[in-house]
Amino acid sequence: MSEKSSPILLFDSGVGGLTVYDALREVLPGAPVIYAADLAGLPYGEKTEAQVAARVAGLLGRMSERFRPRLVCIACNTASTIALGNVREVLEVPIVGTVPAIKPAAAMTQTGAIGLIGTQATIRQRYVDELEHQFAADKTLLRIAAPEFVGAAEAKLRGEPVDMAVIERVADALRAMPGGDRIDTLVLACTHFPLLADELRLVFGPQVQLVDGAAGIARRIAHLLDGQPMEKTGPNRFIVTGPIDAASGLDAALSSREFSAAAAF
Ligand code: DGL
Repeated sequence: MSEKSSPILLFDSGVGGLTVYDALREVLPGAPVIYAADLAGLPYGEKTEAQVAARVAGLLGRMSERFRPRLVCIACNTASTIALGNVREVLEVPIVGTVPAIKPAAAMTQTGAIGLIGTQATIRQRYVDELEHQFAADKTLLRIAAPEFVGAAEAKLRGEPVDMAVIERVADALRAMPGGDRIDTLVLACTHFPLLADELRLVFGPQVQLVDGAAGIARRIAHLLDGQPMEKTGPNRFIVTGPIDAASGLDAALSSREFSAAAAF
């Protein structure tokens, strides 16, 4: 592989990182991309810190050897908030992580009440405590886990309907927390969740603005790769861990994003 065709490797447990890919395509349309979905490990949000850290570091090590990426983006909040430090220590390529967009949310809120929806593993991370302390110490940040959203987003991208009751349950639980009725800004702290933006807008209403990190991450990647020659030698590649059947139903979502059909890692 020539240096020009060396890919950007986007990594997630599933299809959530495609929300980062969509933003990246806006700013770097000519970049060769390999998207890796660890479908055999999905969902990360229900795993322990040790399980996620070992899995992500191991897979990214093997993938970096095989694909020789120019940059790796961990397009997953759960993996980034747990394992970003570890992965940076063991890989030599630049690594960009995806962390909850608390900073922009704190700048946007008018009421001072911010909701944060993530996976079970993400919302308990010290990394999130630190972001809160640094950027939202004078705000009310209400965190809630919505593991069901991950499956709903995976299903939606395979053309299946979204069960609105799942979204309503989480919205009700968030609003019932002290200060929850004042929430005007919602951090989508899992890369799967922007895939449910239409449904979330319907349920939360127009007075609540949704924030995620995808555009900022895309800009960061473009900045780090500024000036590098890039050449695409074919469609982007979408690879999955585990049985390839787990990727069935994704054809339309992949081809509309200039990916070839899913392949096994
Ligand atoms: N997409 C992942 C994230 O951003 C989470 C999905 C999972 O639980 O594996 O946190």
